[in-house]
Amino acid sequence: MKKTVLQGMRPTGRLHLGNYLGTAKGMLALQENPDFDTYYMVADVHALTTPFDPSELSISRKSVAIDYLSCGLDPEKSAIFIQSMVPEHAELAFYLSSVMTIARMQHLPTFKDKVKQYPDHATMALLNYPILMASDILLYKASMVPVGLDQEPHMEIAREIARKMNDLYGMDFPAPQRYKSKGEYVPSLMGEGKMSKSVNGSFINLTDDFETIKKRLGGAPTDSGKGEMVPKTGGVANLLKFVELFEGEEKRKEYESMYTGSGIRYGDLKNELAMAIDKELAPIREKRKELETRPEYVDRVIKEGAEKARAIASVTVAEVKQKMGLG
Ligand code: TRP
Repeated sequence: MKKTVLQGMRPTGRLHLGNYLGTAKGMLALQENPDFDTYYMVADVHALTTPFDPSELSISRKSVAIDYLSCGLDPEKSAIFIQSMVPEHAELAFYLSSVMTIARMQHLPTFKDKVKQYPDHATMALLNYPILMASDILLYKASMVPVGLDQEPHMEIAREIARKMNDLYGMDFPAPQRYKSKGEYVPSLMGEGKMSKSVNGSFINLTDDFETIKKRLGGAPTDSGKGEMVPKTGGVANLLKFVELFEGEEKRKEYESMYTGSGIRYGDLKNELAMAIDKELAPIREKRKELETRPEYVDRVIKEGAEKARAIASVTVAEVKQKMGLG
C-alpha cells in the first residue's frame, strides 16, 4: 500500500534558499518516490490565524504555488493545491475540534509564543491553528508529514485527535508522523541561527539574480581569513557551509586548508560561491518567468490539484459525518 504524504506551507512571503534546500528538495524527492502519494498544499487558511492583509494574501497564496512549480513539483505526480479551494479542510476542522479541550490547546507552546508576538490577536482562529493542521493531515489519512522539529507539538495534537476519533467514532486514521527529510540545515548569512525571512541580511531569495546574490553574500561577516583553527560557528563557518552545499565537500576542504595556511581571500570565495548559487537558481528563475507568462496554466494546475484533493477529502468528511451521527 502506498503511503500518503501531506505537506503545507503558509504563504508568508516568497521562498528563499533555506526553504528550497530544507523543504522543497525533500518534497521533490518524495514526489519521485513511487511508494508515496504526495499532497502539497498552500496553507492559506492558516494565514488568517495571525494579522494579514487580504490583497497581499490573495497574491502570495498563488505565488507560493508558482514557487512550488518552479522548483520542480510536478502536477502529474503530486496534487498541488490551495487549502481554501478545498472547503473540507475548514469543515473537518470543526468536527475535530469537538474532541479537544480548550485547556489542551491553550497550553501549546506555539500558541503561547504567537500570543506574545501578537497580543492583540489572540483569536479563536489562532487557538484552532493546530486543529486545522490536524484536519489537513487526517483528511487524506496521511501518515507522513515532512515538517521541521518546531512543528512537533502540532503533530502530537494531530495524533491525539486521530486516536480520539478512532476510539470514539470508529474512524481508521493512521497516527501521522513527522518525516525527517534529508533537507539541509541552511544557516543565516549573518552568522547566527538559520536562514529566515524575518532576519534582515540572512537570506537569499529564489528569485535573486547573480548581482543580487553577490551583494547579499557581500554583507556576510568574515574575519582576517587566517587562523590556527577553522571557526566552527559564526559568519565564516556559515560561508564554508554554503561552499559545501553548492560547491562540494572538496572545495570546502581546500578553503579550510587555506584558512590554516596562506589565508582565504573572501572576495574570491564570495564571487565563486555566488556563481555556484546562481547556477543552481537559474533554472528555477527561468521556470518562474515562464510560468508568470502563463497564468491560465497555473490556474488550471491549482484547480485540478484541488479537484484531486477534494475527491479524497470529501470521502473522509462523509465518513466522519456518518460516524458522528451527521450522515
Ligand atoms: N504549521 C505549518 C508550519 O508553520 C504549516 C502547515 C499547515 C502544515 N498545515 C500543514 C504543515 C499540514 C504540514 C502539514 O510550517
